[in-house]
Amino acid sequence: MKITIIGTGYVGLVTGACLAELGNDVFCLDVDQRKIDILNNGEIPIHEPGLEEVVARNRAAGRIRFSTDVEASVAHGDIQFIAVGTPPDEDGSADLQYVLAAARNIGKYMTGFKVIVDKSTVPVGTADRVSVAVQEELAARAATATFSVVSNPEFLKEGAAVEDFMRPDRIVIGCDATPQGEKARDMMKKLYTPFNRNRERTYWMDVRSAEFTKYAANAMLATRISFMNELANLADHVGADIEAVRHGIGSDPRIGHSFLYAGCGYGGSCFPKDVQALERTAQDYGLNLLILQAVEEVNARQKQILGAKIMQRFDNQIVGKHFAIWGLAFKPNTDDMRAASSRVLIGELLRNGATVAVYDPVSMEEAKRVFELDFYDAPELLVSIRYAENPMDALNGADALAIVTEWKAFRSPDFDQVKQRLKQAVIFDGRNLFEPAVMTELDIEYHGIGRSVLTRK
Ligand SMILES: NC(=O)c1ccc[n+]([C@@H]2O[C@H](COP(=O)([O-])OP(=O)(O)OC[C@H]3O[C@@H](n4cnc5c(N)ncnc54)[C@H](O)[C@@H]3O)[C@@H](O)[C@H]2O)c1
Repeated sequence: MKITIIGTGYVGLVTGACLAELGNDVFCLDVDQRKIDILNNGEIPIHEPGLEEVVARNRAAGRIRFSTDVEASVAHGDIQFIAVGTPPDEDGSADLQYVLAAARNIGKYMTGFKVIVDKSTVPVGTADRVSVAVQEELAARAATATFSVVSNPEFLKEGAAVEDFMRPDRIVIGCDATPQGEKARDMMKKLYTPFNRNRERTYWMDVRSAEFTKYAANAMLATRISFMNELANLADHVGADIEAVRHGIGSDPRIGHSFLYAGCGYGGSCFPKDVQALERTAQDYGLNLLILQAVEEVNARQKQILGAKIMQRFDNQIVGKHFAIWGLAFKPNTDDMRAASSRVLIGELLRNGATVAVYDPVSMEEAKRVFELDFYDAPELLVSIRYAENPMDALNGADALAIVTEWKAFRSPDFDQVKQRLKQAVIFDGRNLFEPAVMTELDIEYHGIGRSVLTRK
């Protein structure tokens, strides 16, 4: 099938590459010339396991191309996926300017029937606004082409995006009940047939329910994380081990084991903004989502937990102290640092007079860009960040190690070396990678999240 992907970011590029892999003829559009140049040079602008090979294979086979040519992109695809960003607006609502600009471009150039798919995460009711935008452009040039707007939210996880797209738990598609909607449904069904060979994974619903489903999923996941983080902080006070508690409750099939890890807060491009956007949608209808307000507050506090533990351990005196930081990305297997907890910690340390040596397996370049933004008001602090060559190099002469991202490479370090290189053997573990009892045996002072019962001497 002929597919156009509008927006060649994390979601767009993965969607385009995977649909090409299944034999479709894919046109990827982006307004960012730099991104398109990188892709046309045979490189990829993001770190995503397995993606480079899929893109290269399909580019070589002529099944995927990259361009900034809007008119050609509209002419190409019978199905037009909108996969542009929906960043938070100042009031927390989803900023739809990129989605609506993409819709207008389609309306400006389309000549025949198009299925327009909202793949971006968009608030309930956005499909109607996309319809109006397209309709206005058609009316402006007195054109009569027909179309249908479909909601097909994306559930891939950064770091496992290709695998998730190729083997989805579920595919959610919302179509309306008009004749055009029926036609769109048939085309979407055909497109997704290869994903349903083993079993039917598609959930068909109305457009608004599909839009809502994406927010409900992210809100639920964020809630589980904040819930466990809040309990972990209490566990620290009452002398319980949150890891034991996690196993104890996760074994209940009504609860399950996933997404119950306590840590130093969630980040990334989705949970923070989607929780906020859902709250904002509720406010538009005069409702307050109390649980989600608390989820956000707990998370903001949790991102400060490592900084707070460090300040407490060093009696609020960290001027001249030096810390090693393992992990900068908001989670492993990605270079994405949007809303990453590392940024909160490093901000706290530097602004209180400490220096840091940082290491992340893939985010070092992204970190340089991000810290320039974070310290725009205090650029002199940038020299307090050393970019280490490897995890061990980051430790040299540090007063303590703080772990912020649970990369596999950090899970089984050579602890003798860790102790030799650190000035004092102190670890603040924001992801509970290590067993406190083992740390005690190794004579390492260990501060996990919700595990202090086991580290008490
Ligand atoms: N990143 C994820 O893990 C993830 C997962 C599920 C859903 N989503 C949702 O998918 C959407 C896209 O997220 P992302 O992380 O891929 O964003 P991104 O910022 O990585 O990519 C968006 C791309 O769209 C391009 N763009 C903007 N306006 C355009 C236009 N008018 N025409 C063509 N290109 C345009 C930008 O230049 C950018 O390259 C968001 O709504 C997000 O919430 C993201």
